[in-house]
Amino acid sequence: MSTFTYPAFVDKNGAKTPVTSGNGYKCPNCGTELSPINAGKTYSCANNHSFDQAKEGYLNLLLAQHKRSRNPGDSDEMIRSRQRFLNAGYYHSLVSAIIEQIPEMAADSRLLDIGCGEGYYLQGINEARKDLQLVGIDISKTAVRMAAKRQFQAQLAVDSGFNLALFDNSIDCAISVFSPISATEATRVLKPEGLMIMVGPGAQHLSGLTAHIYDKPVPHGGNFKALDESTEFSLIGQTDIQESINVQGSAIADLLGMTPYYWHATPQQQESLGKLENLETEIHFNIRLYQNCSVPA
Ligand SMILES: C[S@@+](CC[C@H](N)C(=O)[O-])C[C@H]1O[C@@H](n2cnc3c(N)ncnc32)[C@H](O)[C@@H]1O
Ligand SMILES: [Zn+2]
Repeated sequence: MSTFTYPAFVDKNGAKTPVTSGNGYKCPNCGTELSPINAGKTYSCANNHSFDQAKEGYLNLLLAQHKRSRNPGDSDEMIRSRQRFLNAGYYHSLVSAIIEQIPEMAADSRLLDIGCGEGYYLQGINEARKDLQLVGIDISKTAVRMAAKRQFQAQLAVDSGFNLALFDNSIDCAISVFSPISATEATRVLKPEGLMIMVGPGAQHLSGLTAHIYDKPVPHGGNFKALDESTEFSLIGQTDIQESINVQGSAIADLLGMTPYYWHATPQQQESLGKLENLETEIHFNIRLYQNCSVPA
């Protein structure tokens, strides 16, 4: 028996009816739904734009004209350093705190991680909340490939948070951890009253590391501005997570390498940090909860 299923937009007579809403991906060329063909190896729209699934199971929906550089997003080295550091468990308290903020939702509700990086937080959420359908996007192909290699159940794509290949009102809850965010795109894809969980650095974040680089403390920019200035989101709560961690051996170079501080450190500072056996530092996260208060058109 054939296992072929017709794409959502093709009826049994072969007629094409473009689908322009729902839980699937939106074709970045024409905005109609992408459906699996060729046993799920390719995704195609009613206008025959097609995207092959990578062997790790993600889609690359970032069109060349939406890229500002050949390799957008964080550098591969930064992403690899971040994966080693996160896998060592130093930010375990943050993933637990994020999970605590995710509300109870109907089964199969969809949670989107905007700028999911190499997938550490989505994998943690997957372990705790099997009831949710997870979606992760990042503009870096290396990051999405590494997230897919973690092999947890999620829909992953290379895509920009400023031009999401997702339909309006298709996401129940979104998270953004230290990533750039477009308030307009986030409200568009979130359902009315959907929750946005944003994580940014608190005032003491990595003070033990920055003390090796700057003479006096430098305030963090944070990534909350876009949502704070948006009339479509209202801030409904904030939690702070702060603790002291002792970073051991090569994880010190990974911590430096996963942050923009790497570029601010002189070669001598990089070298002397690399020689430390351990580094005591505060980690301090602000978790802000925003509610989508926009009314769908
Ligand atoms: C500081 S990292 C945080 C990654 C992950 N959330 C974490 O905390 O491990 C910022 C991430 O945002 C991604 N990024 C940058 N610009 C983006 C955009 N326009 N759309 C989606 N992701 C973007 C980078 O590639 C990078 O993975
Ligand atoms: Zn198309």
